[in-house]
Parts: sequence; C-alpha cells; structure tokens
Amino acid sequence: MKTKYYKLGSGDDREIFRECGKIIRRGGLVAFPTETVYGLGVNAYSGESVPKVFEAKGRPSDNPLIVHVAYPDDAEAVAYTNEKYYELAERFMPGPLTVILPKKDTVPYEVTAGLDSVGIRCPSHKAAHELILDAGVPIAAPSANVSGRPSPTTGEHVMRDMNGKIDAVIDGGECYFGVESTVIALHGNSAEILRPGAVTREDLLEVLDNVTVNPAVKDPSASGARPASPGMKYKHYAPRAEFRLVDAEGDAFIEYVNSLDGDVGVICLDGEAEKFSCPFKYHVKDGDSVRELCHKLFGTFREADDDGVKTLCARLPGDGGEELALYNRMIRAAGGRITVPDKR
Ligand code: TXA
Ligand code: MG
Repeated sequence: MKTKYYKLGSGDDREIFRECGKIIRRGGLVAFPTETVYGLGVNAYSGESVPKVFEAKGRPSDNPLIVHVAYPDDAEAVAYTNEKYYELAERFMPGPLTVILPKKDTVPYEVTAGLDSVGIRCPSHKAAHELILDAGVPIAAPSANVSGRPSPTTGEHVMRDMNGKIDAVIDGGECYFGVESTVIALHGNSAEILRPGAVTREDLLEVLDNVTVNPAVKDPSASGARPASPGMKYKHYAPRAEFRLVDAEGDAFIEYVNSLDGDVGVICLDGEAEKFSCPFKYHVKDGDSVRELCHKLFGTFREADDDGVKTLCARLPGDGGEELALYNRMIRAAGGRITVPDKR
C-alpha cells in the first residue's frame, strides 16, 4: 500500500483534513498528531475496518482502543456518561485524559477488544480535532507505533513504523507532552489510574473524592490475574538497547555509568553531560526536567537504537505528580527492574 504523507503548514491544511476525514469515514487508516503522541485512527463505528489497525501495529487483539471525540458531549454517542464525567471534562478536556465508561452498542466489540467499556478521549491538538470533525465520526486510535516500540512523537517516527501499511500520515511536528494520556476507570466519585500521564492524581483529586493508582503502574509484574487495563500487561515503550534504571543520585549515578564499558548511553541533564565518559549522551534542559524528559523519552529510545547503543542508563525518577508518568514508562522499558549500584 502506498502511504500518503501530508505535512501541515506546507500548503492547504483544510484540504488535508478534508481528504483524510474522507479516508477515515470510508474505513481507511490515518495517523495523526495529538498533544500526547501520534495516533493511528480508524472509524470507530466500523467493526470491519478496526481489525486493520491491529494488523498494521501487530497489536494483540485483546488490547482495546481509545475512542477520540471532537467535544466532550460527543461521548454520548458511544458511552453512558454521568455527572462526574462532565465535571472531569469541564476541568481537563480537551486534553490528555482518557475516561473509561460503559460502552453503548454503537461501538463494535472490535474497538473494545470484547469489553463492555470504552475509553473516551477529547484531544486538544488542533489537527486531531479537525480530523475528527471532518471524518464526521468518532475516531478509534491507539498510538501509531508498531506494537512493542516506543510511541511515536514525530511524523518521522510514524513513517518509520507505518509507511506502506496505512493510508495516510498527517505530520504536525513534535507532540507537546510526549507520553500518552492518563487513563482512568471512573466509579462514582472515585477513579483508578490505569496509566499515568500529564493529568496527575493530584489534578484529579480537585474533582474526585478518591483516586487510587493501579499497582501495575509502578510494578509491571503486579498486573495480577486480570489486569484492569489489558495494555498494562505488555512490555511497552522499550528501546532495543537494554534500558537500566539506576537508583543512585548525584556522583554515584555518574560513577556507575562511567564504570560501564562498550556502547553505553546515558539520559542526563545538559549541565552534567561532560561528566559522563560514555560515547552516547542524551541530555535535557536542567530546568523543568520532568516535562522535558517526558517530552523526549520515546524519541531518545529511538535515537539510542539508531546509534547502536547496547546499554542505556537513566536515573530512577520520583513517583509523585507528573513524575509518575515518567516512572511508569521507564520502569516498563526496564522490564520492571531497578539497578542499585554496589556501594563502596
Ligand atoms: O494519549 C493517548 O492516549 C494516545 C493518543 C493517540 O490518544 N493513545 C494511546 O492509545 O496511547 P493506546 O492504544 O496505545 O493505549 C490505550 C491504553 C491501553 O493500555 C489500553 O489497554 C487502555 O488504554 N484501554 C483502552 N480502552 C480500555 C478499556 N475499555 N478498559 C481498560 N483499559 C482500556
Ligand atoms: Mg500504545
């Protein structure tokens, strides 16, 4: 299949959305930017077309897709909403939050992988919004990566993974956040965070009485017999390199990384980069480093792979606020292992 590539801002964007909206409505696959990561979109009403998404990604068929809507009220067409949903929507939508609700019959089971619930997300990225409006239907979309690879945060990442497998790619440049949306299961006044993102537990507590974090968020081996979110049981986000999450601060981290030989890479801050002796350094701005690390993490994984890095090291982040999203992606990329250097 020849994949059409559209770059936003290089000509008539309106025409791009019209064309791609038509492709979606007719059952084709279009990758598009959101404020989190790129999505691989398909008509959420088309039970016939949805399996093509799973095929293009090589995604296990028991992992449900999120349904993207243009406005929070459009959830009415696909899910049974409630008052708390609208309170959350008022505060966090459009934006990087996905709310799991009971699904309506309009959503085929191909989308929800057989579940009676559906994830609703209203993206704030203008291109995602326009595409949904032009399609005239809700868009079911997972991240636009090959299953098991880091989520794509640039149009180029998408082309690398999906060229020849899908109908079109809309390139809108780098995604703002760089990690996927916060996914919550909503039960009355309470919610459980199934996947942490830029909307934090603390944020959610402004609207809800009680917000818990699913144990698998911090400990990927804790998924239990029946994970609440099927996606949590798969190894995700991983570079091909061995990713080592190192529990050491300051000089101890630097010493540890410098003690390793070979094709070693490190994720560090700009100001400390010259202290590392390894051949590959991926650094982020010293100020607001959590946001920066989230923004760059998946791109860094891909870059390290291109560079031929065999061992990639990063400091173990904290697990509060927005750092929980980083912690979750990193611990999963590290296969659940934390490396503690020997103390001398
Ligand atoms: O930021 C995002 O959410 C991006 C952009 C494209 O919107 N999408 C994304 O989709 O990350 P995906 O498919 O890569 O991840 C969706 C996650 C999976 O872990 C899946 O298991 C979970 O949400 N999920 C979806 N529907 C669910 C449901 N009904 N019940 C429980 N978990 C669900
Ligand atoms: Mg994904």
